[in-house]
Amino acid sequence: MTRPEPAIHPASTPGLEDVVAADTVLSMVDGVAGRLVIRGHDLAALAGWRFEDLLALLWRDFLPGDPGADEIGQRLGAARLHIFETLSPALLAGTDGLSPVEALRLMLASLPDSHAGDHAVTAVAAAGVYAAAIHRLRKGEDVPAPDPAASHAADILAMIHGGPVEQEKADALDAYLVTVADHGLNASTFTARVIASTRAGLFSSVTGALCALKGPLHGGAPGPVLDMLDAIGRHGKISDWIAAELERGERLMGFGHRIYRVRDPRADALKRALGKLGDPTGRLAFAEEVEREALRQLAQRRPDRRLETNVEFFTALILEAVGFDRDSFTNVFAAGRMAGWTAHVREQERANRLIRPKSRYTGPMPESAGN
Ligand code: ACO
Repeated sequence: MTRPEPAIHPASTPGLEDVVAADTVLSMVDGVAGRLVIRGHDLAALAGWRFEDLLALLWRDFLPGDPGADEIGQRLGAARLHIFETLSPALLAGTDGLSPVEALRLMLASLPDSHAGDHAVTAVAAAGVYAAAIHRLRKGEDVPAPDPAASHAADILAMIHGGPVEQEKADALDAYLVTVADHGLNASTFTARVIASTRAGLFSSVTGALCALKGPLHGGAPGPVLDMLDAIGRHGKISDWIAAELERGERLMGFGHRIYRVRDPRADALKRALGKLGDPTGRLAFAEEVEREALRQLAQRRPDRRLETNVEFFTALILEAVGFDRDSFTNVFAAGRMAGWTAHVREQERANRLIRPKSRYTGPMPESAGN
C-alpha cells in the first residue's frame, strides 16, 4: 500500500504578509513613505482634534463642528453614564485576580451582541469606562461616576484620578486616542472583521479584537517599554544593556513594525504631544537616548531589515505622564482603537462576505487500499 501525495496547492503566505484582505475607506498605512491617512486626513493634520471628532469622521465622515459630530459626542457622554449605571457588582467581583486586560476582556464579553450600527457608541463608551473602573478597582478605590458633559478623554482621566484634571493632560490623552484610533488591517482589526464576517455581532467582534491586541507583538508592548527603561536604569548602562538583550535574541519593545520601513509617524505625533505636556515624569531625555542607541545597534545588527521606533515606545511615556499605571496601558490602547474596530465592523457588516481563506495541507494522506 502506498500513500498518495497530497493535492498540490499554491504556497501559503505566513503572516499574510502583503496580502490585501479588505477594501476600506477608513485608513491607509504607507510603510515606505511613513504616512498614515485617516479617512482623507494625514495624521499630522489631526493634531488638536478631540477623540469624539475622530469617531465622527471614522463612522460618518463628519468634520469637527458638523451638527452630526456634536451629536455623536453627546451620545457618547450619555453612553458612558449608562455603562457606569449598569456596572454590576457581580461582574466587578468576577475581575478579581485577573490582569487589567483580562478584566476588560471579561467585561466586554459580558455585553449582549448586536450590530455595529446600533451599538458602536456603547462599545466605545464601555471601553473607556471599563478601563478607568479597572484602574480604580486595582488600587482598592471606588469608581466615580462619569460626567456626560465632559469630553471622553477628560472624563476617563477624571475617573482614574477621582476628580477633574488639568486641560493639558486631557489634551495629551486626546492626542493619544486620536493617534491610535485606526491603523489599516492590523492584527486586532483583522480579527474584528473576521468575527463580524460570520455575523457574530459587535461585542463578539471587539472582544476578539481585544484578545488579539493584548499580545506583546501588538498592543501589549508599551508596559514592557517602561520595564525596559527601568531595567536599564541609568545613562551609563544603556549601550551594554541593549547589546546584551540583542545578544540573547530578545526583541526590544517599541521597535520594528510589519508595515513601516521608516519611523512610525505615530511615534512623532505622540512625542510632540508629550513635549506639549512638558514631560512631567522627566523620562523623555533618557528615553530618547535609549531610542538613539537602540536604533544604532539594531541597524548594525540588521543592515538587511530596517527596524525603527514604533508607536508603542512613546505610548508608554505619554500614558504614564497622564497618570495610568503601566499594566493599564493596553486597556487605554483598546479604548482608542475601539474607534477603528467599530468602524471596521460597520464597514464589514455593510458589504459582508464571509472571510474564509484556505490552508495548504502538508500532512500525510491516508493509505489507499487499491494500490
Ligand atoms: N528587536 C530586535 N529584533 C527585532 C525586533 C525588535 N524589536 N523586531 C524585529 N526584529 C527582528 C526579528 O527578530 C527578525 O529577525 P530574524 O529575521 O532573524 O528572525 C527580523 O527583525 C524581522 O522581524 P519579523 O518578526 O519578521 O517582523 P514582523 O513584521 O513579523 O514583526 C513586530 C513586527 C512583531 C512588531 C516586531 O518588530 C516586534 O516583535 N517588535 C517588538 C514588539 C513591539 O514593539 N510590538 C508593538 C508593535 S506596534 C503595534 O502593534 C501597535
